[in-house]
Amino acid sequence: MEIDYFKELADFISIKSISTYPEYKDEMERAVLWLKGKLESLGFSVEIYKGDGHPIVFGKLNNFKEKPTMLIYGHYDVQPPEPLEQWESDPFKLTEKGEFLYARGISDDKGQLFAHLKALEIFKKEKGEIPFNVRVIFEGEEEIGSPSLVKFLEDYKEKLKADFAIISDNPMLKRGVPSLSYGLRGLLYIEIKLHSARNDLHSGRFGGIAPNSCIHLCKILSTIKGNDGKIKIKGFYDDVLELKDEERENFTRLPIKDKDYKEMAKVISLEKERGFSAIECIWARPSFDINGINGGFQGEGTKTIVPSFARAHISFRLVPNQDPEKIFKLTKEHIIKQCSKKLKIEVIKKESAHPVLVNINNKYLIKVKEAMDAGFGKKVHLIRQGGTIPVVSQIQNYLNTPVILMGLGLPDENAHGPNEKLLKENFINGVKSLLELYKKL
Ligand code: BES
Ligand code: MN
Ligand code: MN
Repeated sequence: MEIDYFKELADFISIKSISTYPEYKDEMERAVLWLKGKLESLGFSVEIYKGDGHPIVFGKLNNFKEKPTMLIYGHYDVQPPEPLEQWESDPFKLTEKGEFLYARGISDDKGQLFAHLKALEIFKKEKGEIPFNVRVIFEGEEEIGSPSLVKFLEDYKEKLKADFAIISDNPMLKRGVPSLSYGLRGLLYIEIKLHSARNDLHSGRFGGIAPNSCIHLCKILSTIKGNDGKIKIKGFYDDVLELKDEERENFTRLPIKDKDYKEMAKVISLEKERGFSAIECIWARPSFDINGINGGFQGEGTKTIVPSFARAHISFRLVPNQDPEKIFKLTKEHIIKQCSKKLKIEVIKKESAHPVLVNINNKYLIKVKEAMDAGFGKKVHLIRQGGTIPVVSQIQNYLNTPVILMGLGLPDENAHGPNEKLLKENFINGVKSLLELYKKL
């Protein structure tokens, strides 16, 4: 019988589970109910955990004493779809075009999460029952930094006991190169607010004598990174785990080069940290970004003022063994030191997550690798990732459970952007790989 892999996915995708917009709370509830229904149809008992934020779906299947327990994590929240005019199809209508499926969340992460549900469903249909234990965590706040998760993990610590955790929420190396990831970067996200006067001033009357908030903010921000791509905050690199020669050599053997990144990002040139290749920079070196700056007059037309207020959002991607708290402290000190004492500045920590490395010799990771070799019909590569999934360090360090990152996405499929897509073949091969894995459990 022909398997319909994408049946039901359209319903799940049509739910606008945007975690960052408070007015979408009902949609979040709908997504939770959808997941609950699907899990129950597979025989799970389901609990809905309600903390301060969006609910977490916890599912439990089986409790065989002698059998391994697999913990599946996925997130049902998505990023806002805006700007809508850049979408070629409705972001909340699953659209098949050529080899791809298009929709918000199809890659990040509703589509990848669904691969696990689909695999369990097919396995159950074929074998009659699932002969191992499964626990699931489906979270609704990943895209806003997982604020409720720590409390949940504390409250559910016993119920979450597992031999390994498996997560599909990242890309593979590139098309045709299935891969398992053993590293993630961490994140530190900061907001800076700078006040230079009580209110905006006429730049004819006061320009040249009044401090300008935007100029001061730009000056401060320009001290964070040098032209060599290095971050100039004192102590910033102290805990960075340097790449070993062997790992650098492994990287050079992967079928990806700097020019591939230039093409994927569609940029004219790369601006890397001196002395490192593109994948070294993305996977194993910290980075700094200004995510946005505003202040003063930004509308159409003109306004001759000395602005009194400026604001910036900045973030760092962190690598093992950098600690977000420590980096925040160093950054705050640096910014305050660079700022004239006569101005009022606030440095606020918004989000943070620890970087991760996983043990590649874990026996379940080896099973997953073999299962993927079979499911994709190709040798799987071991790679790292530049992105962040906050739960991973918490599962590893707090629950003490090894995590396996089995990403089914591609790096250039527009996650968080317009026309997000997923290669159908990767989804199908991912499901096949999971079926192979289940046989080994
Ligand atoms: N699925 C991504 C994480 C990801 C992206 C892993 C690329 C590997 C490669 C996740 O949904 C995400 O967007 N994470 C945020 C984390 C943040 C909101 C705390 C990120 O990386 O920006
Ligand atoms: Mn994700
Ligand atoms: Mn995301």
